[in-house]
Amino acid sequence: MFTKAVPVETEEDILMDHDYDGIKELDNALPPWWKYGFYITIGVAFIYLLNFHVFGIGLNPTEEYSAEMESARIKKEKYEASNKDRIDEKNVPMAAADGIQAGKILFEANCVACHLSDGGGSVGPNLTDDYWLHKGSLNDIYNTIKVGYPDKGMQSWSGQFTPKQISYLSSYIKTLRGTKPAAPKAQQGEFYVDEVVATDSASVIKPDSGKVAKPDTAAIIKK
Ligand code: HEC
Repeated sequence: MFTKAVPVETEEDILMDHDYDGIKELDNALPPWWKYGFYITIGVAFIYLLNFHVFGIGLNPTEEYSAEMESARIKKEKYEASNKDRIDEKNVPMAAADGIQAGKILFEANCVACHLSDGGGSVGPNLTDDYWLHKGSLNDIYNTIKVGYPDKGMQSWSGQFTPKQISYLSSYIKTLRGTKPAAPKAQQGEFYVDEVVATDSASVIKPDSGKVAKPDTAAIIKK
């Protein structure tokens, strides 16, 4: 079963008739275990071909990757939907005093090199005025800190801080508005204040609506 080698006594029968410098060759049969192993690989290759290339039942590595990404996305969505404290750039809450204080500490530890401790700006823009490169609502500021503008020198901080911490930083930046920094950097970007619409009876306040109000619009009230 393992070998079909011819016994030494009868080797003469299978000796082939060539002779190279005294080296001769026996015409032995292939060992059956080896031969059938080889046939099996042919069978497997055939099944493989049908499975992956003809019927497309099996997933190739690229398809496997996207299937896994898709299932991770669904899991993540489920997780996030069930997490009520979740913060993203669409629903940033204005922090209370302790959150603002936490934001100030984070700001002083991470941001002052470019924005200065009073927010007046140096490498980065002035954060105390009403002019913003990337809009100035709480949601917008959150988004700027989260995604950053790395090609302009403002990195993304989402790797360093949790969403909650970024909301504290954003809230703290909001409180800088209208403060008088020692050496304010010249305004950059567009005029932006949170839209506050006054109607004739009661005033309707739409915080963070994301609209840019014109400086001369009536009834711009500091939020
Ligand atoms: C290495 C310098 C640097 C550091 C550190 C830095 N920033 Fe910035 N930041 C910038 C620059 C430069 C810009 C302007 C980006 C642009 O031109 O789009 C900017 C823009 C911003 C803006 C948007 C301002 C606008 O006008 O729209 C906010 C908000 C901001 N940074 C917050 C932060 C916070 C919070 C931190 C700390 C966690 C931080 N930055 C740390 C350089 C920095």
